[in-house]
Amino acid sequence: MSKLWGGRFTKDTNKLVEELTASISFDQKLAREDIQGSLAHVQMLAECGIITNEEMQSITAGLNKVGEKIEKGELTYSVENEDIHMNIEAFLIDEIGPVGGKLHTGRSRNDQVATDMHLYLKNHTNDIIKLIDDVQAAIVQQAEDNIETIIPGYTHLQRAQPVSFAHHMMAYFWMLQRDKERLLDSLERVNWLPLGAGALAGTTFPIDRERTAELLGFDKVYPNSMDAVSDRDFILEFLSASSILMTHISRLSEEFVIWSSEEFNFIELDDSFCTGSSIMPQKKNPDVPELLRAKTGRVYGDLVGLLTVLKGLPLAYNKDMQEDKEGMFDTVETVEGSLKLLAPMIATMNVNIDTMRKAVNNDYSNATDIADYLVTKGMPFREAHEVIGKIVLNAIEQGKYLLDLNLEEYQAFSPLFEEDIFEVLAPEHVMGVRNSYGGTSPEQVKMQLELAKDKLGVIQDSEK
Ligand code: ARG
Repeated sequence: MSKLWGGRFTKDTNKLVEELTASISFDQKLAREDIQGSLAHVQMLAECGIITNEEMQSITAGLNKVGEKIEKGELTYSVENEDIHMNIEAFLIDEIGPVGGKLHTGRSRNDQVATDMHLYLKNHTNDIIKLIDDVQAAIVQQAEDNIETIIPGYTHLQRAQPVSFAHHMMAYFWMLQRDKERLLDSLERVNWLPLGAGALAGTTFPIDRERTAELLGFDKVYPNSMDAVSDRDFILEFLSASSILMTHISRLSEEFVIWSSEEFNFIELDDSFCTGSSIMPQKKNPDVPELLRAKTGRVYGDLVGLLTVLKGLPLAYNKDMQEDKEGMFDTVETVEGSLKLLAPMIATMNVNIDTMRKAVNNDYSNATDIADYLVTKGMPFREAHEVIGKIVLNAIEQGKYLLDLNLEEYQAFSPLFEEDIFEVLAPEHVMGVRNSYGGTSPEQVKMQLELAKDKLGVIQDSEK
């Protein structure tokens, strides 16, 4: 088959070279964006008098027809036509004849592919932002039900101080909020249009790039044609923001895996989000959070892969850049898929309030509060820390917790102890008095939930 660029060649392309250089097996995912970009391009060409209105109408009708046929699966892509751009152009020429060849006036595949990628990311970044919002809504719902639910708070995975389960979950709300804001911010740069940059140096035709931008809903046009065709940092930014997002998803998933173990038993994931074992009938495995944790690796890989592809490239377009696509598609699909599972998994999980409560009773996480108690009775904090350390050691030796010691036992360590020590030791009290801004007291958690609810749905409303 003759190539769209075959004029200068006297020999056919080696078959293996054809396979190596073709991107159609994966860039067919850009079909819709490619047609969208072309429709705007021809309209601009006609408005600028570069092609006639009849030509524009014929090409527009042809592109729409090709789009429909692609959606219905009626067209077969060919490796000989290399990529989505040349395949669609060939389909168009088949559909409407040689006038289809006018579509490529004043543009190159280099500015075309960059435009397709911008359009693709614009749509998917907005989808991802909405999906993050769904996860946040599920977190808020669980948090609202569990403001008074007490769970051990950990540092070094050692019990540290009791916290509200809502507070713990809401920590992830705020991480996701920053992820959402990072993605939203990246859209500002995705919103630059490369089309009209030509192969690298601009075009001799009197095109109107601002008009194309307007037709495609872009805010700005790249002011430098070489930058326009070589820039992939908008993808790097997306992959970076996605990597951070996946880090958060992975950490939360890890908590779910630990919490649903028999040792912790703090939560139970809904049956519909777990799987069984082919050999051990008792097993209910948290495969979903495990896989979400693991999928983080692919997204990091996609980021590092593209950084590596780009790091040594001179200006302007280099064929290396064709390798920008699979990682981007993979990240979009991985992130969207992960978020779609996470929201209902959180919404349907069962919180074992009693087990959490038992865990809090059976630990020493109220030790700081006894130290603070002695301080309010006049003892310097350092000295109080030392006294409580001895009390904890003594309790451990006796196989008791701080709630199990009686007043005499306390008074043996300091005469400052009085009956009110037992109020101070109660987990509700320990949690309730951490009432500084952003702390774990129910009052602060309620305040935090109010702030959080204001963030839900807001980004979608402001979407362009
Ligand atoms: N398939 C190519 C890519 O994805 C399109 C641009 C090709 N440009 C070129 N000069 N060969 O990067």
